[in-house]
Amino acid sequence: MLAVAVDGPAGAGKSSLARAAAHSLGCLYIDTGALYRAVALYALRQSADPCSAAAVEPLLAGIALALRHNGGTQQVFLGDEDVSEEIRRPEVSAAASKVAAHPCVRTFLLGLQRRLASEQDVIMDGRDIGTVVLPDAQVKIFLTASPEERARRRMLELQEKGTSVSFEQVLAEIHNRDYQDTYRAAAPLRQADDAILLDTSALTFEEALAQLLHLIRQGGQP
Ligand code: DC
Repeated sequence: MLAVAVDGPAGAGKSSLARAAAHSLGCLYIDTGALYRAVALYALRQSADPCSAAAVEPLLAGIALALRHNGGTQQVFLGDEDVSEEIRRPEVSAAASKVAAHPCVRTFLLGLQRRLASEQDVIMDGRDIGTVVLPDAQVKIFLTASPEERARRRMLELQEKGTSVSFEQVLAEIHNRDYQDTYRAAAPLRQADDAILLDTSALTFEEALAQLLHLIRQGGQP
């Protein structure tokens, strides 16, 4: 089995690059952030405070969470409901980084992520894939870009969707999420010792994809 771990901060282009690389290589792309988002959405719907592990933990047994893959597209289900769109809402993003800090949530999702990687060749993107979920992955990439560049890309995305926000506001949200992901006690965002750093700040999408594919084909050697 091929396992490629792609970790890095929010907005570094992980999902679009990892998806495109998976398509090129004919393996499955798994966006693990969607799992944390689905747990967060479930907690919000149950009126549980996402900051409280005591409120979230009892809900976990009742979550019927599943990923389905349709062509190259990942869909996330809560029971029979496709929540792939809804988990992208800003309040779900904010709640996701809060539930992701609880060890009970991380343990709950760990088995599911490992099972997915044991069943097929995968490129898995997240924050702790190379450090915790798949420490034996053949290839580990830490994909990043400067906060300003990530904010600029996010602004463009939002503008395309017709949402207008200030650069300062987007940048502040990026700093905030970086902080929460990096300084939490449970499985914080960090580059695995054996991961290769790929900084996409000055790269176009095509250049970044070419480098990512090159690294994967080299078996994670620079
Ligand atoms: O990649 P994303 O923005 O969709 O992730 C949503 C949240 O989940 C984010 O705050 C980080 C967290 N996350 C995590 O802690 N571990 C992962 N493997 C993936 C995401």
